[in-house]
Amino acid sequence: MLRARAVHPKDESQRHRLLAFIKAEARGGLFPRPANILDNAIQSGQAIYIEDGEAIVAGALMFDYTGNRCHYYEIGTHLVARSHEGRGFQVALTRLQIAQACLDLEDIEASPIFAIMENNSPSLHNAVNHARFKIWELPDELRSLRDRTGVRSSAEKLVCNADDEAIQAAFSALRVSVSGGVLKTHKDETPIHLDFPWLDYLLQAGPY
Ligand SMILES: CC(C)(COP(=O)(O)OP(=O)(O)OC[C@H]1O[C@@H](n2cnc3c(N)ncnc32)[C@H](O)[C@@H]1OP(=O)(O)O)[C@@H](O)C(=O)NCCC(=O)NCCS
Repeated sequence: MLRARAVHPKDESQRHRLLAFIKAEARGGLFPRPANILDNAIQSGQAIYIEDGEAIVAGALMFDYTGNRCHYYEIGTHLVARSHEGRGFQVALTRLQIAQACLDLEDIEASPIFAIMENNSPSLHNAVNHARFKIWELPDELRSLRDRTGVRSSAEKLVCNADDEAIQAAFSALRVSVSGGVLKTHKDETPIHLDFPWLDYLLQAGPY
């Protein structure tokens, strides 16, 4: 059975399992991030993953940067196990992450949700064509906040953000694809059981 959930900040075992999954499956356009940054993101309560039985088969992290007047949400470290690629997991995780960011997001202009990806990559394709992200310029403040954590921006990568339309699209897609606590991706009929107690409320009452 497939199940999606967030890592509980105090659950050491979940944290270690997700870190081990990332280490074992890291490839492609994945940013190498310092271990403490990965660990902090996993402990934030905003790291989500999908498991198939006992095995983690996909994960997605959220990196938070607090600026002077902005709070930036970076969606990143998207990883799907080779055994489970091609089933639309990344798009589903992206939409869930947008909803999750909206839990405490007050103003999308002041708190951008963004991602940095390689050009001509499946991630960029999924972000732009399925999740409706738009190409975006990294603000100077955010660039230096990222640099200070040891994650260098590179000229070859493209930055995109979830504007109002993308957030709207994520909520609309989730309202269609989630029913009775179960999600089906846009490419796969296999039910993914959701363990996000906040999601039902957000989809009913949410900002979009
Ligand atoms: C990137 C990744 C998360 C996507 O996994 P996934 O959810 O199984 O993605 P899917 O296979 O369902 O979708 C891939 C899409 O990209 C398209 N695609 C594949 N290669 C592509 C390329 N080089 N350029 C553009 N699009 C490409 C596919 O056609 C598919 O699009 P479609 O569904 O519209 O036909 C997964 O391949 C992975 O973990 N890769 C290694 C780690 C990585 O690169 N992570 C991204 C870091 S942000």
